[in-house]
Amino acid sequence: MKALFDQSGRVAVVTGAGSGLGLQAAACLAELGATTFLLDLDEARLEEACAGLRSKGLPVQSRVVDVCDAAQQGAVFDEIVAAHGRLDVVMANAGVSGGRGPMARAGAIDAVDIAHWQQVLDINLTGTFKTLQCACRHMKTFKRGRIIATTSASVLSPEPFVSYSYSASQAALNATIRLLAVEMAAYGVSVNAIAPGPFVTGISGGAMADPGVQQTLSKRIALGRLGAPEDIRGLVAFLASDASSYLTGEVIALAGGYPSAPLAATAVTPQPPRPQ
Ligand SMILES: NC(=O)c1ccc[n+]([C@@H]2O[C@H](COP(=O)([O-])OP(=O)(O)OC[C@H]3O[C@@H](n4cnc5c(N)ncnc54)[C@H](O)[C@@H]3O)[C@@H](O)[C@H]2O)c1
Repeated sequence: MKALFDQSGRVAVVTGAGSGLGLQAAACLAELGATTFLLDLDEARLEEACAGLRSKGLPVQSRVVDVCDAAQQGAVFDEIVAAHGRLDVVMANAGVSGGRGPMARAGAIDAVDIAHWQQVLDINLTGTFKTLQCACRHMKTFKRGRIIATTSASVLSPEPFVSYSYSASQAALNATIRLLAVEMAAYGVSVNAIAPGPFVTGISGGAMADPGVQQTLSKRIALGRLGAPEDIRGLVAFLASDASSYLTGEVIALAGGYPSAPLAATAVTPQPPRPQ
């Protein structure tokens, strides 16, 4: 069984790997033996993350990349493939929070700033799509590979703590992943999404920064706690490995049983009925 999860001799790329879930995913792939490239646009964060992994003797390298910059990202993928002659695992994980959801006044539909909405979609949806394009361009020629996207369990049912822009981007990504799996099956490439529930990471600007929201959300998680970044490791190891050889096109919630309580428990303020 150990051989099924072995990544020795393989090459992995993780975007948004400077912190949180991406950093844990990169550490996991490197520990399993893959030469792992950590990509992030935050250079300081990236260097600190990489230094930490290197100090443990792990085979990691860093590249500063903004996933929104197709030319920059494409050049980095080309450089990695030219140097190593292969590309085995790509985890498209970079993303941002879209701010507060409609539970807060600032997140109500009439308060949404369209420029901000567009910015979130540009990063979470279009930026991730550009990562998928880079991965597929190379994996089509190698006729093998594993693609994993990080989406969100918060869009599998309505979540009023989460912003419209974030919900729209993650739901669109789930649809994209399912469709891409169909195209890439002919090339021996599997494409799946990990849809995390509420995790405590450094993701800023959203409802998760609020301890009150964390408390409310944890009551709606069957396991009774928010996710810790390390909780993503097992599923990354599985989806990146030969152990998942008959799995593609799946959006897998990694959410401790969230949401286990009905939405009504946290519903927005009820509106009076319309006058007849
Ligand atoms: N934390 C949660 O509760 C949660 C839940 C569901 C899904 N997710 C998703 O998981 C992914 C990772 O989030 P996290 O919670 O680890 O947050 P995080 O902020 O700790 O990590 C995200 C990383 O992405 C990087 N990044 C942001 N924009 C980028 C860009 N344009 N190009 C390259 N790198 C960029 C950031 O610098 C950061 O290092 C995101 O896609 C997020 O939407 C998080």
